Amino acid sequence: MAAAYDVVVIGGGPGGYVCAIRAAQLGLTVACVEKRGALGGTCLNVGCIPSKVLLQSSHHYHTVKEGLAEHGVKVSGVELDLPAMMLRKDKVVGDFTKGVEFLFKKNKVTYIKGTAKLTGATTIDVDGADGVMQLTAKNVVIATGSVSAPLPGVEVDETAIVSSTGALALPKVPKTMVVIGAGVIGLELGSVWARLGAEVTVVEFLDKILPPFDDDVSKQMQRILERQGMSFKLGHKVAAVAKGKSGCTVKVEPVKGGDAAEISADVVLVAIGRRPYTEGLGLEAAGVAVSDRGFIPVDAHGRTNVAGVYALGDVVGGLMLAHKAEEEGVAVAETLAGQAGHVNHAVIPSVVYTHPEVASVGKTERELKDEGIVYSVGKFPFMANSRAKANGESLGFVKVLADKRTDRVLGAHLIGPGAGELIAEVAMAMEFGASAEDIARTCHAHPSLSEAVKEAAMDVGKRAIHI
Ligand code: FAD
Ligand code: NAI
Repeated sequence: MAAAYDVVVIGGGPGGYVCAIRAAQLGLTVACVEKRGALGGTCLNVGCIPSKVLLQSSHHYHTVKEGLAEHGVKVSGVELDLPAMMLRKDKVVGDFTKGVEFLFKKNKVTYIKGTAKLTGATTIDVDGADGVMQLTAKNVVIATGSVSAPLPGVEVDETAIVSSTGALALPKVPKTMVVIGAGVIGLELGSVWARLGAEVTVVEFLDKILPPFDDDVSKQMQRILERQGMSFKLGHKVAAVAKGKSGCTVKVEPVKGGDAAEISADVVLVAIGRRPYTEGLGLEAAGVAVSDRGFIPVDAHGRTNVAGVYALGDVVGGLMLAHKAEEEGVAVAETLAGQAGHVNHAVIPSVVYTHPEVASVGKTERELKDEGIVYSVGKFPFMANSRAKANGESLGFVKVLADKRTDRVLGAHLIGPGAGELIAEVAMAMEFGASAEDIARTCHAHPSLSEAVKEAAMDVGKRAIHI
């Protein structure tokens, strides 16, 4: 007989596992099916966490090698132990994936290892180590995430031509690396290998790096990364990648026409975005619709077109971020328990964990202009922030955008030390419907990086003190 649950969640990533735990907290019987062999999805296994471990370790290496002399600290004989760095990464990942298993046990979520396939709207076959198991559920939640988008004609082998997964596990530092795509993965993983000694060239189709970010951020960040040694070929497309015995040759062409050029690279990283993953899921059997780009359309409560079937996270589109998936996981679980599950998609922060970090929430200037919203800008450079100067990390700025009529905060865009932490203050302010003046009149500790946020908010009213 089929095992029956109130909720079966398909996919144990940040969207799925959070949904499963929250639903169980609310008294529902829950099973979560995951085929990877470990919980945590892309984020914990081959995404957010391993990339941040390598970013931190490579930052330490680079700082000890080159960044301490100005502080009067002399070091010599610095060596890279890449296997040890990778081992630490694997240990952190393992600790977290086991941690999610522990949370499942604690919350009485049944963890089923195997590949789920819908055989109807609320019936599921799970192909696992012991054969096929049948499940029935009052409600099914699809949280199957996303995978790297392929570049036509370029075959990823995860050794010479890698996706982000291969780039997180290279056995040695390449001398040269070409990154295709100046998005978040390209800049983060490009930074890792550049800090460890690779000569990195980033090829980007559009004419700016980090295309969805505020133009000021893209421009300044490009200059900063160039000073760190990365090269950019903007407005270029990759026509071909040829794999030879001693590396690859990447043929690039200007998008607007012109002469092609060739770049040699030991390793090519393809990072041109991610696409929803629903392969073999049986969506047709369940009657679940997908968009022409493969995403599963849902309403504000995560409902698909089929009653009893919900979807969330990367597979539904929008920002492909772990914290967005988690919020949707909570909202869907609460909806299933009869509560008013809701996510404010207008206030989802984005962080790029380069050094310095980039962080953004709300609207960019370009979006405000396109929407015809009249706004004020407040800007404050970290150069004028005492803590940043004391730390020796004063590149970047905070920019706050507020409605000109109401002073309500509409967005914030940061480059700078700890930007990924500082953005939480602005996100909170926006959730509370705060004005720039609300932030400006909140007392911030001195000396702290957060004073730059306060001063940028003060600058909206043209009354910043320290510039
Ligand atoms: P996923 O995490 O992709 O999880 C889906 C799970 O479903 C997978 O484990 C998959 O095995 C499983 N699955 C799929 N089909 C089936 C099936 N039929 N049966 C059973 N199981 C199935 N986001 C951030 O917010 N911050 C970051 O710093 C960050 N860094 C990233 C770095 C990299 C290199 C990458 C690739 C991504 C990064 N992301 C980051 C994005 C983040 O990983 C995703 O947004 C997030 O994992 C999406 O969560 P999800 O639960 O929707 O899907
Ligand atoms: P992305 O969408 O951030 O960037 C892809 C880039 O590739 C874009 O700039 C795009 O213009 C460019 N591009 C597309 N086709 C191209 C081509 N043929 N030639 C050259 N350039 C091309 O996607 P990315 O970096 O692969 O990341 C995937 C997802 O993972 C993102 O949605 C991101 O949100 C998430 N992620 C989040 C992180 C974070 O929050 N810190 C870290 C890493 C990934």
